[in-house]
Amino acid sequence: MKFFVDSANVEKIKELNELGLVDGVTTNPSIIAKEGKPFKEVVQEICNIVKGPVSAEVTELDCDGMLSEARDIATWADNIVVKIPMTEEGLKAVSILSKENIKTNVTLIFSVAQGLLAAKVGATYISPFIGRLDDVGATGVELIERLKKVLTNYQFDTEIICASIRTNQHLELCAEAGGHIATIPDSLFGALSKHPLTDVGIKNFMKDWENYKALV
Ligand code: E4P
Repeated sequence: MKFFVDSANVEKIKELNELGLVDGVTTNPSIIAKEGKPFKEVVQEICNIVKGPVSAEVTELDCDGMLSEARDIATWADNIVVKIPMTEEGLKAVSILSKENIKTNVTLIFSVAQGLLAAKVGATYISPFIGRLDDVGATGVELIERLKKVLTNYQFDTEIICASIRTNQHLELCAEAGGHIATIPDSLFGALSKHPLTDVGIKNFMKDWENYKALV
């Protein structure tokens, strides 16, 4: 499973990248806004740090607007992926962009039908949001299982980016379901390596080692 960082925080991306955990980055307008820097500047900075795909989202909502924004964003770096919202206008734009070999990530996917349509018009990636589905009482990970099955049934090349991951369990379930990629908030990475029994185990090993050293 590939790991993307769901963040535009350059320092945190650098740190995780140095650990060897980063295969790519996803951003959205809310994530970019948090950094308070010019959009293009922060995206280019990220693209210089990370070799893998970096998603940057359009903010125009009509097809023509999305196309001109997407064509511009695509020139910012070689590893750019243009993120397009899942709407009819978005699908039209993705269909055209895929013929121009511009990589796309169709975002805000909440159903199998939406994912299937996006794959059919040539999306490079689709981003189903599992945490937000959980927020409204659904079981987000079921969407990953179903989309994986459908994309496999028809041998689409489109990859699933499991998005809106909020917990360790979300990540584990997405991996079990065969999601190609997990995009993980930078704040969650720290928690992923932890387990209380690991801490207890280390403490006990160290105590026993000290006792042993006092004897020999
Ligand atoms: C990633 O592409 C999404 O923008 C992100 O995972 C959304 O996460 P959230 O639902 O926690 O805001």
